[in-house]
Amino acid sequence: MCDIKALLVILSVSLTNALPISPINNKLTPFFLQQVNLIESPHSPSLDGQLLNQAYLDLLPVDRLLYTYYQNANISVEGIEPLGGWESPYSDIRGVFLAFYLQASAKAYLAYNDTHQLAKAYYLVEQLYRVQQILNESGFLAAWPSEHLRKLERLEKVWAPIYCYEKLLRGLSDMSTLTGLTLAGTMMHDMLEYLYAWVDHCIKTYSISHWQAMIFSTTDYEYGGISDFLYEQYGLTGDRRFFWMGQQFEDGQFLGALSLNADFLTGLHANSHVPPVLGGGRRYAVTGEPEYRAILENFYSIVWKNHTYSTGGSNGGNGSVGFYQQEHYSDANLLSQTLWNNNQEFCVQYNMLKVIRVLIEWTGDVEYANAYERVFVNSIWGTQDPSEPGHMLYSYPLGANVSKPTSVGGGIGFGSQFDSFWCCYTTAIDQWTKMSDSIYFFDNQSGVASVYVNMFVASDLNWYAQEHVLIRQMTAFPRETTTIFTLTTSIDAVALNIYIRVPSWIVSDESWIEINDIRQHIELIPSTYVLLPITQWKTNDRIVYNMAMRLHAEPINDNPNLVSILFGPIVLGGLTANAKSLPRDMNLIRKIYTTIQEPIQFEATALDNSTFRLLPLYEIVNQTYTVYFPVG
Ligand SMILES: *[C@@H]1O[C@H](CO)[C@@H](O)[C@H](O)[C@H]1NC(C)=O
Ligand SMILES: *[C@@H]1O[C@H](CO)[C@@H](O)[C@H](O)[C@H]1NC(C)=O
Ligand SMILES: *[C@@H]1O[C@H](CO)[C@@H](O)[C@H](O)[C@H]1NC(C)=O
Ligand SMILES: *[C@@H]1O[C@H](CO)[C@@H](O)[C@H](O)[C@H]1NC(C)=O
Ligand SMILES: *[C@@H]1O[C@H](CO)[C@@H](O)[C@H](O)[C@H]1NC(C)=O
Ligand SMILES: *[C@@H]1O[C@H](CO)[C@@H](O)[C@H](O)[C@H]1NC(C)=O
Ligand SMILES: *[C@@H]1O[C@H](CO)[C@@H](O)[C@H](O)[C@H]1NC(C)=O
Ligand SMILES: *[C@@H]1O[C@H](CO)[C@@H](O)[C@H](O)[C@H]1NC(C)=O
Ligand SMILES: *[C@@H]1O[C@H](CO)[C@@H](O)[C@H](O)[C@H]1NC(C)=O
Repeated sequence: MCDIKALLVILSVSLTNALPISPINNKLTPFFLQQVNLIESPHSPSLDGQLLNQAYLDLLPVDRLLYTYYQNANISVEGIEPLGGWESPYSDIRGVFLAFYLQASAKAYLAYNDTHQLAKAYYLVEQLYRVQQILNESGFLAAWPSEHLRKLERLEKVWAPIYCYEKLLRGLSDMSTLTGLTLAGTMMHDMLEYLYAWVDHCIKTYSISHWQAMIFSTTDYEYGGISDFLYEQYGLTGDRRFFWMGQQFEDGQFLGALSLNADFLTGLHANSHVPPVLGGGRRYAVTGEPEYRAILENFYSIVWKNHTYSTGGSNGGNGSVGFYQQEHYSDANLLSQTLWNNNQEFCVQYNMLKVIRVLIEWTGDVEYANAYERVFVNSIWGTQDPSEPGHMLYSYPLGANVSKPTSVGGGIGFGSQFDSFWCCYTTAIDQWTKMSDSIYFFDNQSGVASVYVNMFVASDLNWYAQEHVLIRQMTAFPRETTTIFTLTTSIDAVALNIYIRVPSWIVSDESWIEINDIRQHIELIPSTYVLLPITQWKTNDRIVYNMAMRLHAEPINDNPNLVSILFGPIVLGGLTANAKSLPRDMNLIRKIYTTIQEPIQFEATALDNSTFRLLPLYEIVNQTYTVYFPVG
């Protein structure tokens, strides 16, 4: 076991002074949401999910979203029906959905010019301003009384007030920086002043151990991304109080263990612990301290190697952690004992995408882009019931004889429009408004612009303003294995390096690239970026990229004879109630001819000679399925 105490010392050395701001150089930069638009294609789970989510945001009435805020300020709620589930007036974390609603609205405006959504969000901010004024508590704003913070001080049980507070700070910050609403910025500033006064009071009044018990113990172990937010504010404003506050929300024991690369995750509540890791990453981005970079890098690698299913998802506790601790990380490399109807909480995967995105920015390493795709296509796609908006999953079942409608989480199966509002709803409405994010990245370090294509999603990359070019990507991936890029330039010729990801799963000798109908002699090496051999581009230049996929079996990390079956990056679910033994040779699984209008399908013959179909997990809605199969 490593010496955690030694590390705690390292972490606390800097408590007295803010470190100077020393921004790091990223290898790659993501595009702004307004530069990338999802476009129609014969099959696009990203666009379908975005539209379904847009319909959900549309149907939520503003007054119902505001109910608990009004109540908190004694504004009349007569005639308004409260929301249910985690937003009900009896829930400690009421009001947090509205905070995410602001984040999602700001992104909906940027990503697909949803002015209707923006108008709703403006109204919400104005009403929140009213509430903040009536509360008249030095900037405090929440749907619950500040008494929740006093409860923390008395170490009384209360559910996640810091987490809620941070989400609203983030919602107002997004409304301010992304949509230019200055009122939201002022309100956020006032909320931060209140928070500073409260933290300052606590640190002066209580012992360090009391503060740690308030924030990091079971009283309130979910304090969200508060350090991430505060370090970001420090980077933006240089106000040392934000750096100081960020440090007060660092759990030295957890972050210290990670910086030493110790797997400290077993039994920890997964979703509470990803945002503080992002906080560590943000601190590194602002100050350049290498131990904070290590925290995020090590966390990713421990989760990915030792706690992750074939879907790219993690968490589902069992083994020493206990059967009912499904939101917790299980023992390292004991995943085969955790497969049932309650795996991988949606929010955890949402937050892991943020972790992986940071690593893509820092390193430009294609391994991270592979990982991003794995999570995205298996753990984000497939979490909404497409038949109606607002029916989303909490956890994703990965066992045998499981189904999404019988999954267990905040409730049973898909949630409902007005009575769920689980954490997986809050993060989902944000995720589905930014589906165009991380498809493309750029770098400009050598003076020549370079674009990196990370994912295969039908979309327009509008880079006219800086580089005089628009790149359209058209594909029905993964129902088809080709994707076609067409360029339009606003000047005669544009100098541009185009790098396209060659995924880890590609079958190299059956894959190819054509530029303007000419087959290129380029070796497509899995897990690299291929640089196209043309550097001057004109309107109507066209690139066709075919990525051959094959079926392959991926063993779970603690049992080489228990496998998940994938087609390219896509995890398949077998439409069978039994985890029947399959032959080891995946060539014995037959592909069934399908058109682009229907899901890809396969037929397997088990060792007992019975047959069953396999479908992409993300295409399965109500059927019973099995994910992992023994091979004999
Ligand atoms: C709302 O009413 C309650 C009960 O009368 C009172 O305790 C509280 O201070 C009031 N809050 C505000 C913001 O006026
Ligand atoms: C955004 O929507 C508004 C209102 O529908 C419209 O006037 C405007 O042209 C749109 N902007 C873009 C960039 O599409
Ligand atoms: C807000 O509280 C201060 C005292 O803390 C008081 O002087 C002021 O009148 C209050 N404002 C309103 C609008 O109630
Ligand atoms: C985590 O996975 C790596 C790679 O498979 C392995 O070397 C290591 O022993 C595992 N750690 C634990 C604690 O099982
Ligand atoms: C989880 O662990 C318990 C106790 O060891 C065991 O009875 C149960 O079958 C396990 N659950 C799954 C889904 O494997
Ligand atoms: C890249 O750098 C060039 C030269 O400094 C500049 O003109 C261009 O706007 C930059 N592009 C981006 C996307 O930052
Ligand atoms: C599958 O689950 C259903 C409903 O939960 C149950 O009735 C059935 O017996 C199970 N089948 C197997 C093979 O376990
Ligand atoms: C499966 O079918 C093969 C070929 O018909 C036969 O040889 C074998 O005995 C069958 N196995 C079982 C378990 O029925
Ligand atoms: C799934 O089942 C629910 C409940 O029966 C139904 O409302 C919904 O339409 C079904 N979804 C699909 C895609 O069949």
